[in-house]
Amino acid sequence: MANPIIILGSSRSHGNTRKAINQIIGKCDIPLVDLNTLSIKPYDYEYLNKSDDFIPLIERIVEFDTIILATPVYWYTMSALMKIFIDRITDLLDIRKDLGRKLRGKKLFVIASFGTSLPKGFEDTFEQTCQYLGVEYLGTSFVYVGENDEQFMENNQQAIEKAKLILPIVEKSSTQRYAPSC
Ligand SMILES: Cc1cc2nc3c(=O)[nH]c(=O)nc-3n(C[C@H](O)[C@H](O)[C@H](O)COP(=O)(O)O)c2cc1C
Repeated sequence: MANPIIILGSSRSHGNTRKAINQIIGKCDIPLVDLNTLSIKPYDYEYLNKSDDFIPLIERIVEFDTIILATPVYWYTMSALMKIFIDRITDLLDIRKDLGRKLRGKKLFVIASFGTSLPKGFEDTFEQTCQYLGVEYLGTSFVYVGENDEQFMENNQQAIEKAKLILPIVEKSSTQRYAPSC
């Protein structure tokens, strides 16, 4: 993978999910889009929102080969901000099929930060969405941000290593460099 982009969908731009991203990517200069800074409205059957920031964002995303979705776990699932983004992909099946087709063959990885418990079935939505869109699902890294559960804290290093390996992210000191600007 040489060309990743991160889509951050948290209710705060510099919270735990952003920290989880930083733990994974280290010094790699991977482009990041913060959904908080854009105006992307919920799906509308009449496509009344077609002129908001969604289509320009997708036009940017299709230039990359790997999409990294970063979301906190809110009530056992992705954030509402991220869900709105996913719902709006429906626009690409109807009014911008040309753009929808450009998603085929892309890869998708998820970074999820959580505070209390691993959410059951969290990955199913992403896996099935990828299957539907012809996108390769690479997996999810769950990064624990709490301080009470020692097992989760121990698992964090594995979660971070998993993401680095899959994406793959190689730091400057290494002899091999896959990811750009690392
Ligand atoms: C509205 C809300 C719902 C949450 N629901 C869960 C949950 O279901 N499971 C969990 O493990 N943590 C839950 N948390 C904790 C967050 O997942 C955790 O603090 C996360 O790292 C927050 O990331 P952020 O700072 O980017 O928002 C919730 C937090 C909030 C604010």
